[in-house]
Amino acid sequence: MEFNSGDIQAFQKVSFRLIEELRLSSIISVSEIEFLKSVLRFHEHRYYILNEPLISDSEYDLLYAALKQIEQKHPELVTKDSPTQRVGSSINKSFETVQHLVPMLSLENSYNADDLINWDRKAKEHCKLDVIEYCIEPKFDGASISLIYENDLIVRGTTRGDGVEGEDITNNIKQIRSIPLSAPFSKFGIQQIEIRGEIVMTKASFTKYNEGLIAQGLSPLANPRNAASGSLRMKDPKEVAKRNLEAFLYHVSFYQRKPANTVNDKEEFLEKLTPNTLSVVEDNVLVTHSSSLNLLWELGFRSPQKEKMVVQGIEDVIKHLHDFELLRDTLPYEIDGMVIKVNDFALQETLGMTTHHPRWAIAFKFKARQATTQLLGIDFQVGRTGAITPVAKLKPVQVGGVTVSSISVHNEEYIKEKDLKIGDNVLIERAGDVIPQIVKSLTELRDGGEECIVFPNMCPVCRGELFKEEGEAVWRCVNIECEAQVMEKIIHFVSKDAMDINSFGEANVRKFYGLGLISDIPSIYNINFESKGKLDGFGKKSIDNLSSAIEASKFQPLHRLIYGLGIRFVGETTAKVLANSVEHLLDFVDKSEEDLQKLDDVGIKVAKSIHHFFSNEMNVEMLKQLESHGLQLFNTKKEVLQTGGLINQTFLFTGTLNKLKRSEAEALAEQHGGKIVSGVSSKLNYLVVGDDAGSKLEKAKKINTIKIITENEFLELVNL
Ligand code: IVH
Repeated sequence: MEFNSGDIQAFQKVSFRLIEELRLSSIISVSEIEFLKSVLRFHEHRYYILNEPLISDSEYDLLYAALKQIEQKHPELVTKDSPTQRVGSSINKSFETVQHLVPMLSLENSYNADDLINWDRKAKEHCKLDVIEYCIEPKFDGASISLIYENDLIVRGTTRGDGVEGEDITNNIKQIRSIPLSAPFSKFGIQQIEIRGEIVMTKASFTKYNEGLIAQGLSPLANPRNAASGSLRMKDPKEVAKRNLEAFLYHVSFYQRKPANTVNDKEEFLEKLTPNTLSVVEDNVLVTHSSSLNLLWELGFRSPQKEKMVVQGIEDVIKHLHDFELLRDTLPYEIDGMVIKVNDFALQETLGMTTHHPRWAIAFKFKARQATTQLLGIDFQVGRTGAITPVAKLKPVQVGGVTVSSISVHNEEYIKEKDLKIGDNVLIERAGDVIPQIVKSLTELRDGGEECIVFPNMCPVCRGELFKEEGEAVWRCVNIECEAQVMEKIIHFVSKDAMDINSFGEANVRKFYGLGLISDIPSIYNINFESKGKLDGFGKKSIDNLSSAIEASKFQPLHRLIYGLGIRFVGETTAKVLANSVEHLLDFVDKSEEDLQKLDDVGIKVAKSIHHFFSNEMNVEMLKQLESHGLQLFNTKKEVLQTGGLINQTFLFTGTLNKLKRSEAEALAEQHGGKIVSGVSSKLNYLVVGDDAGSKLEKAKKINTIKIITENEFLELVNL
């Protein structure tokens, strides 16, 4: 069975059969391998292109593991387009320069209706036509790429480079899950095809990515476009896979047909296509741009579908551009305009191209979300970990409908890199709902009156000493009693993802602190509401609400409390791992850095930071105070589970686990009442299978009562 989005029911039926078979631990026959690959591709398409998965992640993992198992036993059956072949590519030593089959030209730009009317007039004159049919689609703001498929397989992925030559980034391209490793072009008589498109990073992934950079004391990137193009040139393909890049394919630049007699099953394939694709081919020739996009879509690519529109004449184009501009902010990725393309390929040919751009397409650029303004000064703010963050104070300016008056400039190195001076004119950019950034200072406009930015040599709040760790860009105030740090720590502690004390927002924390009603984290549980005379604007109801929210927070699970402590490098995920590894929070006092490093998600840096936190007497004292106020420092979930779920169930782990270390997995099973056994026998209830599982798996498959599960399924079993 080939991939075909039309066969949903058939695929779903097959998927459930395979999943069921795997659950019952029967072996999937080797003869089903091609079948299994198609099923996996189908589900990748549902997930990565349509955003409508039909099976759960763990069910996908089960199918994937089954394929991997068959391939391990029969390496001769591994094909280049197997879903397993994306991962595991080796490090890119360098990127070879390769010539594009067709030069990658740029687009002419237009900014208003007059520009478009002019362009349309010239095109009509050239083609001797009264009206031209146009296809309008987004101008994706990312990094352009070219893909070549030969005999249905992807053979090359390239950056744009100088337009004539680009860099071969095939290994990295294969990490982008919305790019199919194979597609049945041969059904359309196409032997070789070159497709153009854009790699974008979604706004959400960009924000997360920059947060990560900032947490590591590194400088964030200015926009998702830079993040996408930087990601494509990374040495380690595994890192590319983590970046959540997406690919939009919008142009067939070249294709070569197979000799006619080798085209056999096109008819059968056409029947399965949705109606809007039926106009795609006439005698195996693509006739319009919009139908080439439909064809790409049907073959499993993410081409503009819902995002494109075919209209007659430039007046209709102009009518719709405004609607598209309004849509801009609702999209999860950045677009910086629309591209208007002559739809008919024959007319495109007639119009041809200049040396820079095709005459059959034009970009309509949306209003820039950039603005220039003046850098008035720098405020140095102190965060909860003592980090000193310089914040640029700007002459207020409108960018993309929002007034911007201050922008974080992160650290001393960032200021140097951007060559910022007080009094400078700066170019700022706001990419959609992404936080504004300074793109550059306009040094050519300097008049000599600008002042250098001088970093403080003591904490701007408590006047304490500042310290910069080796290899880091951030200066920190070392005084843990620093008022600014204490207040930020409280704000973090009560925040939504931590103890979630609603109605205790940032402004209220500052107010209570200012009034002396709170002074540190434990004092939250000891507020004297009687002195409410001080609390202007706080009626009885607000006080009751706040006091019951504070009371309720005492029963928050341990991982929230750990996250709320604001230990450096301990995010929500690590907090969960930590919570699950102890009976009581103060057990960490006795743990060495080595002990901590044995935990999943805890590397040297994180272990050091946790150890540092629990070695500090004041922190231990604070935790004891919290306990005396009634907060739950025991891992209650663990106690409940010990008497629950997996009681008396036996477990054995085999193969390499990806998320947990073997020892952690065993500990988790035990914490939930399970027992670890050393061998496969009829006494075994669960065999948890990691990568490269060997003889234990084979043996277990022969015993019907053993449940063979993946690591992810095990994690689900223990509610992680
Ligand atoms: S068509 C031969 N369509 O914009 C014409 N380009 O400023 C090929 N771009 O280099 C380009 N979205 O990287 C086309 N829907 C779209 C596009 C698009 C973004 C990029 C492309 C091009 C640049 C020109």
